[in-house]
Amino acid sequence: MNIRNFCIIAHIDHGKSTLADRFLEITNTIPKNKMKPQVLDRMDLEREKGITIKLQPVRMEFLGYILNLIDTPGHMDFYLEVKRSLSAVEGAILLVDAVKGVQAQTLSNLELALNLGLEIIPVINKIDLPNAEISRVEKEIQQILPQKEIFKVSAKTGLGVEELLKAAIKKIPEPKIQGENIIFDNFYDSYHGVVNFVRINNNPLKSRVGVFKPDMTPTDILNSGDIGYVLTGQKVSLKTKSDVQPLVFAGFFSDDFNLLEDALRKLQLNDKAISIEPASWPTLGRGFRCGFLGLLHLEIATERLKREFGVDLIVTAPQIGLKNGQEPWVELEIISPQEYLGKIISLLNNYRGDLRETKNLSQNRLILVSHVPFYEIITNFVDKLKSASSGFASMSYRFLGWRDSELEKVDILLSGEKIDAFSRYLPKVRLYRECKQLVEKLKKVLPRQNFAVAIQAVAGSRVIARETIKAFRKDVIAGLYGGDYTRKKKLLEKQKKGKKRMQKIGRIHLSSEVFIKALKY
Ligand code: GTP
Repeated sequence: MNIRNFCIIAHIDHGKSTLADRFLEITNTIPKNKMKPQVLDRMDLEREKGITIKLQPVRMEFLGYILNLIDTPGHMDFYLEVKRSLSAVEGAILLVDAVKGVQAQTLSNLELALNLGLEIIPVINKIDLPNAEISRVEKEIQQILPQKEIFKVSAKTGLGVEELLKAAIKKIPEPKIQGENIIFDNFYDSYHGVVNFVRINNNPLKSRVGVFKPDMTPTDILNSGDIGYVLTGQKVSLKTKSDVQPLVFAGFFSDDFNLLEDALRKLQLNDKAISIEPASWPTLGRGFRCGFLGLLHLEIATERLKREFGVDLIVTAPQIGLKNGQEPWVELEIISPQEYLGKIISLLNNYRGDLRETKNLSQNRLILVSHVPFYEIITNFVDKLKSASSGFASMSYRFLGWRDSELEKVDILLSGEKIDAFSRYLPKVRLYRECKQLVEKLKKVLPRQNFAVAIQAVAGSRVIARETIKAFRKDVIAGLYGGDYTRKKKLLEKQKKGKKRMQKIGRIHLSSEVFIKALKY
């Protein structure tokens, strides 16, 4: 069978999308004059942020073969996209940056691919860079994947890329045809209904099908081994049960509840890792409590709801999901040059982490395996790790399980009134410091009102920290003298309109922008 199906996997920024660009050129799938960088990153959001969020299949033809490539995201919040992509193919090109070497996500993606029994082709990329350390990186790859031929390319200049593609055809086995067709992604199209991305096994499809070039292109048939799409014409329904374990939660609210519900339903179809349940909060009204795999995942979902579905959103502070008084822990893998070991260990101590194992990756680079509460990962840890290691350490994590919670619920009162949206869990060991920072931050962000506002952080019945915002009188007509009634009226009208866009939080009016600022960690 002249079909080869494969993915490119790598740590973030090691060059997957750039390598895919070169493949598309070599195979003439996209003519050179129509090429733009990272052409498979199809969402505006992906191109703006320079990261891949969604898997993207593309079909190429080369030397008499059909090559189906699925481009995958690199950030760990999107590992389910990688997993689903890998389940539809037989091979994976494992890309490693010639300067940065093997990083945390290189390992976690490799593990996923090995577990699925894929043929792995290790590749060192960016060999054009003057500071490339090809032999060092080669040793690192041999350490994690012994006895494999290692290819060396520059995805930027194209050096070695054609040889790599030819080798991929030789090394990756032809599709194994076993069992049911695999639906590995879907999205909603207002004209065609639900569109399924499918890898065909025993059941070739003949109608309403097509392939990705990378634009959707209708074909007469999808044969066994092929990858393409099928238009189902179906509607979408909201799934309140998620197959995955969400770790971060936030409340989603909008003035237009129906639009929000419809948008969430369609977004969820395209992002299986979101969990959604109806919720209602005293200050905010009816909305949804949504679960995510991490903060980037939450941020991207929020942005997509706004851009793709036009929802005017209010999102509450991200919260760790607690279960029966327990909090989630993750196994954290850090790869770092040896010289930062001391700093990283003290960081782990400060953030409730527990170092379990240290392994050598190469002469002076280490793999550190530790157990850490997920709360710490989503609040301080990532930035602190970067600064402790001058940017050289990388990390990846996976959900480990639940342990008795060391967090305490803190409520925020504004002028004595509890504001649900601002409540959060904080670690008991740092309760005073974090409450103090929180009220100081709120004092900075919240605008002055016509009256003084006391901000209090309260745990149980104890006030842990407090600040006061001084009163401020904003009198829009104060500057006007005489009886210019029309001007006065205009100003008052303008002020009234402004108010409409305001959110009433207790007695305080806030614009949703300020509200979101106040909610951020
Ligand atoms: P994610 O999709 O976000 O995981 O990133 P990615 O792995 O797809 O990386 P991408 O292709 O976006 O490349 C990251 C950066 O590395 C970009 O600035 C590329 O231009 C650059 N880059 C990729 N390949 C090469 C290469 O061979 N040489 C050089 N010098 N730069 C490269």
